[in-house]
Amino acid sequence: MTSTLSRPVAVGAPTQHQPRRTLSPTHHLPTRLRPADLLRLTDQGASDVLDGRHDDLLPRYWDREQRWATRLHYDDDVDVWLISWTPDESTDLHDHAGSLGALTVLSGALTEYRWTGSQLRARTLEEGDQASFPLGWVHDVVRSPSRVVTSEPTLSVHAYSPPLTAMSYYEVTDSQSLKRTKTVLTDGGAA
Ligand SMILES: [Fe+2]
Repeated sequence: MTSTLSRPVAVGAPTQHQPRRTLSPTHHLPTRLRPADLLRLTDQGASDVLDGRHDDLLPRYWDREQRWATRLHYDDDVDVWLISWTPDESTDLHDHAGSLGALTVLSGALTEYRWTGSQLRARTLEEGDQASFPLGWVHDVVRSPSRVVTSEPTLSVHAYSPPLTAMSYYEVTDSQSLKRTKTVLTDGGAA
């Protein structure tokens, strides 16, 4: 007599009583929020800043020499930052560790240099533009040179989920690959 209990079953194979599971596109992500959620949060954050709802968090004067950041919101799922950009002060090439990210440019313009896997590709993000950063996104961001001569502050609102805890920094080697140079904890800022 052959026992059905001893019949070998391929791992993961669907059976008559066990239909194949379909995974959602975000199943493997470390957060329940999607890039679209983060884009919406940065848009809302930018509106709140413009409407004066975060005036208590803003500095008394705009420091035009040093980049500056303040956290607008924090919970278990996401943190939201307002970042001020200054001329000639880039973030350096970095990732966002295990967090997804997004930004909305509130005023001025930013230039982003994104690592494509073989080179850095530049794009300009103008006032009102948005961008999201999936896991593994490596970029360097700087105030757009074309706006350096203007007196208006360059500001952007960023959201990270899970909340940003660390960033790794990289340099591009002579053989056009990435070399990690350091990893830092991010209790005091975001980029
Ligand atoms: Fe970044």
